[in-house]
Amino acid sequence: MNRDIVCIGAGYIGGPTMAVIAKMNPDRKVMVVDINAERIAAWNSDDYNLPIYEPGLVDVVREVRGKNLFFSTDIQRAVQECDIVFVGVNTPTKMFGKGSGRASDLQYWEATARSIKEYAKGDKIVVEKSTLPVRTAAAMEAILNAGNDSRVEHVERVEKEGARFTVLSNPEFLAEGTAIKDLLDPDRVLIGGPQTEVGEQAMQAVVDIYAAWVPKEKILTTNVWSAELTKLAANAFLAQRVSSINAIAGLCEATGADVDEVARVIGADRRIGPKFLKAGPGFGGSCFKKDVLNLVYLCETFGLHTAAEYWMGVIRMNEHQQERIVSRLFSAMFNTLANKKIALFGFAFKADTGDTRETPAGTVARLLAEEHVRITITDPKALDNAKRDLSDLTDVVYEVDEYNAAVGADAIVLMTDWKHYPSLDWQRIYDSMRKPALVFDTRNCLNAQDLRRIGFKVLNVGK
Ligand code: NAD
Ligand code: UGA
Repeated sequence: MNRDIVCIGAGYIGGPTMAVIAKMNPDRKVMVVDINAERIAAWNSDDYNLPIYEPGLVDVVREVRGKNLFFSTDIQRAVQECDIVFVGVNTPTKMFGKGSGRASDLQYWEATARSIKEYAKGDKIVVEKSTLPVRTAAAMEAILNAGNDSRVEHVERVEKEGARFTVLSNPEFLAEGTAIKDLLDPDRVLIGGPQTEVGEQAMQAVVDIYAAWVPKEKILTTNVWSAELTKLAANAFLAQRVSSINAIAGLCEATGADVDEVARVIGADRRIGPKFLKAGPGFGGSCFKKDVLNLVYLCETFGLHTAAEYWMGVIRMNEHQQERIVSRLFSAMFNTLANKKIALFGFAFKADTGDTRETPAGTVARLLAEEHVRITITDPKALDNAKRDLSDLTDVVYEVDEYNAAVGADAIVLMTDWKHYPSLDWQRIYDSMRKPALVFDTRNCLNAQDLRRIGFKVLNVGK
């Protein structure tokens, strides 16, 4: 068995993860393969115009690409050459048939399993990097080890050809915008595997990859099912914290309490801690909603209906938060939004990423479009994705420059906490807007007092 690694799936997870593994393991070859030729071409582009934006990523790719990190569409060759196969393909929410709107759509994952089976010669350690429903490894193993031949013939073939697949789970905990930092200095690395001799050896092979830079005590091993479930549970806990503070935010608005003050004091309790207590427009991103829905589906499947309802509440609260933004705008703008111009500042689901998957700004834009608002969107990294996401909406203007976006607007709704927004020239912005001019800062990141002094009417979340 060789030490070389391939990752199938060159997306937000496969690209950065493998770039860091290659950087920290200079003696291993690391390949990243994908069926999407355009994406692979971007990873290989001469000017490093990579398919995703992530702070620090381009430096790592510059350092290792062509040395021990290679991007390719040749999945067959990569699977044959590398004995450790990570699977980092997308696992979106299924939108058809059984489990529609809840369960994970495993078609990409299953296609990958079948490719590995078709191309592999000799033993492979197959590592689930994608987030998957608990017990997926069993299905992966069933596909990999099934032949068109009978079970007995299959065992004989495996013995003769020496091909054996061991499936591990190594979910990824990085967050977008801080992916490189999270990968270089993770809180923990989780590796789940079968508790057999072969399983232990396979887990050790994957532990060795991370041990090149992660302290041993941070590399945690569990059984496969615990690892798969831990990933869903970890995201559900984080999403639940965001929904919890947003539920408190509504009460703050109604009572005169200030959600940032409440969060500061709650978070000072070391049992609770200060992180993930920022009220805002609700969580976005490709994973929280999908993973919580998947947890709901699993609970329902196992007859745990009260647990399913509990987790569904986290999603409902999140949707309510975006609806509340629009209804508060509505009341503040004299109960009519038709033909008014509203500029959305920020479209990415959080700062430091161009990713717009499940972004709260998308939901808000659609709710505003229903009210016949003239929408202008500005974002430093996410405008191309915004155009694609909202391509069915007419009457949306996309503007790189924030000052141009604000001209003639009745309101600005700050949706993403881009770091430079507080230091914009807000007096200049105010002067160019129609009066009364409103700012709805859904991230509570601007200085509201200064804005009021300029003349803005200001709305915040939880204040
Ligand atoms: P993504 O859509 O950016 O990338 C997935 C890639 O897989 C795509 O480029 C797609 O072309 C490729 N692919 C699909 N089917 C394929 C096949 N049969 N063969 C080869 N390539 C194939 O998705 P992502 O954001 O990287 O997420 C991937 C997984 O990682 C998901 O399960 C997600 O839940 C998990 N995850 C993501 C993050 C994150 O920050 N984005 C963090 C932790 C976990
Ligand atoms: C999240 C998790 O943090 C990662 O550990 C996990 O690996 C990843 O999902 C995944 O599985 O994909 P990510 O979605 O990239 O990472 O970003 P987060 O920083 O978690 O933010 C998620 C959303 O919650 C954003 O929209 C953010 O603005 C919002 N948020 C976060 C708040 O509204 N308040 C907070 O206090 C924190």
